[in-house]
Amino acid sequence: MPSATLNLQPLSPACGAEITGLDLTQADEGAMQAVQAALAVHGVLFFRGQQLTPEQQLAVTRRFGTVLRVPYIRPMEAYPDIIAVLKEADERRISTFGGTWHSDFSFLDEPPALTLLYAIELPPVGGDTLWASQVAAYEALSPGMQRLLDPLRCVQTAWPHGTRGPGIDAPVSRSIGMVRGDPSADREVLHPVVRVHPVTGRRALFVNPVYSQRFEGMTEAESRALLQFLFQHATSPEFCCRLRWAPGTLAVWDNRCLLHMAINDYDGSRRLLHRTTVAGERPRGP
Ligand code: SIN
Repeated sequence: MPSATLNLQPLSPACGAEITGLDLTQADEGAMQAVQAALAVHGVLFFRGQQLTPEQQLAVTRRFGTVLRVPYIRPMEAYPDIIAVLKEADERRISTFGGTWHSDFSFLDEPPALTLLYAIELPPVGGDTLWASQVAAYEALSPGMQRLLDPLRCVQTAWPHGTRGPGIDAPVSRSIGMVRGDPSADREVLHPVVRVHPVTGRRALFVNPVYSQRFEGMTEAESRALLQFLFQHATSPEFCCRLRWAPGTLAVWDNRCLLHMAINDYDGSRRLLHRTTVAGERPRGP
């Protein structure tokens, strides 16, 4: 089934497309191939009107690849492969899970390829999520800057700056349980600054302000100016799309070529989503 047969509306030129009229629990092989092709083009897809029990979300996740159990975050009790992303209405003036630009768990040897996030309960307004295409960000750089970045590697760690990670230890909702002392995560990992996508072959920036600490062989002070430039450049509005969630929306995105962040603007409302991840590979540079 070619992707033209999907009912698909791009959200921005750089990334993101909304798909309506497809029940992912019933999608046949042809439809899933069209979905995979659309994901390679748009980086993040939004499936409206899904009705997913946790078991069904896991089954849908398996259609995209091997389900990955991530470290650090306590999963749902009955579903060790699902994280409940929850902020309660009475949790005011607190950061939200994923509230800074990042690529999921980029500090792992093999960070997750995809994330699936399914909306259950939402604020009446607010609680949107942003994504930024890192292919667009890389391609917008000058040839000189691309040549400078192509051979570089960056230290990724869940403990930026040797202390507490903003994405990990900042006071997020009491409902997001943090589990410490996981040796697969409590260390530094070197990944290319420019990542070649294993499916599309396109180059994407692969640094983010939560987990990327310094360039290989350089100090934090020496790395800071260029990293700050890249963080800012990578999230320029023209590389972004923004999702206004509705209950039943499932977002599926590719962490290998996008950054994302949750907007924390809904104090006084409850927001609940279920999150699963698909295993990825060791990032490869140019
Ligand atoms: C995440 O970063 O995985 C969560 C994003 C969101 O809640 O919108």
